[in-house]
Amino acid sequence: MTSVQIHKINTVLITGASSGIGLQLAQDYLAAGWHVIACGRDKAKLDALADTVLVGATCFNFDITERSQVQQVATQVGDLLSSSACQLDLVILNAGGCEYIDDAKHFDDRLFERVVHTNLIAMGYCLGAFLPLMAKGSHLALMSSSATYLAFPRAEAYGASKAGVQYLAASLRLDLAQHGISVSVICPGFVATPLTAKNDFAMPMQVDTQSASTAIRRGLLRRETEIHFPKRFTYLLKLMSFLPAFVWQKMIQRDSQPRALKDAGR
Ligand SMILES: NC(=O)c1ccc[n+]([C@@H]2O[C@H](COP(=O)([O-])OP(=O)(O)OC[C@H]3O[C@@H](n4cnc5c(N)ncnc54)[C@H](OP(=O)(O)O)[C@@H]3O)[C@@H](O)[C@H]2O)c1
Repeated sequence: MTSVQIHKINTVLITGASSGIGLQLAQDYLAAGWHVIACGRDKAKLDALADTVLVGATCFNFDITERSQVQQVATQVGDLLSSSACQLDLVILNAGGCEYIDDAKHFDDRLFERVVHTNLIAMGYCLGAFLPLMAKGSHLALMSSSATYLAFPRAEAYGASKAGVQYLAASLRLDLAQHGISVSVICPGFVATPLTAKNDFAMPMQVDTQSASTAIRRGLLRRETEIHFPKRFTYLLKLMSFLPAFVWQKMIQRDSQPRALKDAGR
């Protein structure tokens, strides 16, 4: 009797798949034969990508900060999965944004709200909508940042939102274990993307999106609890965090001045 080999196709859902790290991950998972559900906000951008580098992906455009939109898309994803007898093997909640507080004394509470809403609250909307579609054996990854290892100037909003994601992931790991769902948190150093292109300060040991995607996919394959890279940068930050606060604060303040200020001080 001839045995028929049925190859299971894995399915990954990625938010923020229209740019930077998420786009590279979507392309790499497609190239590896996965069914990719690529989510972005901008329809025109996503349509253009679907015709070029994301051919074969199932694309959904929605704003993650709009709870009703997230829920609608989750219903469509659920229908798609049941009609194709698939399940979500991996969910990467990667979408996010960064804005800096330029003048802490005149604290921009609207900016703070916007960043925390996009990076943390909206992640809650995605969890509420997509977790019910995840079965035993699946894996969940939340995008945080190595900015959480130490406090950085002007990063009150971004750092606080990403520290929230760290805790969220750690707590979910405890509670989802009984459902057979594993959880990773991803903490990149600087990656060259449209998000970091706006930065006006030095970004030591920056890597490209291809290296970032390779490190993330390797970590996800091993179901690592915390995926951080590039290691020479992230271990340096972790080491610095053991120093007395006044020491690392001085080092950070010196190294993270905007370029214009540094040039003026030369
Ligand atoms: N780059 C780094 O150095 C770095 C380091 C640490 C952590 N991270 C984190 O990695 C993630 C990806 O960053 P990136 O550098 O790849 O940035 P990016 O190129 O700007 O990509 C951000 C992605 O998130 C999507 N997004 C943002 N707000 C959204 C919203 N309200 N609704 C739906 N989608 C939304 C964007 O969609 P549109 O294209 O439609 O705007 C885009 O696809 C972020 O969470 C970021 O904080 C990045």
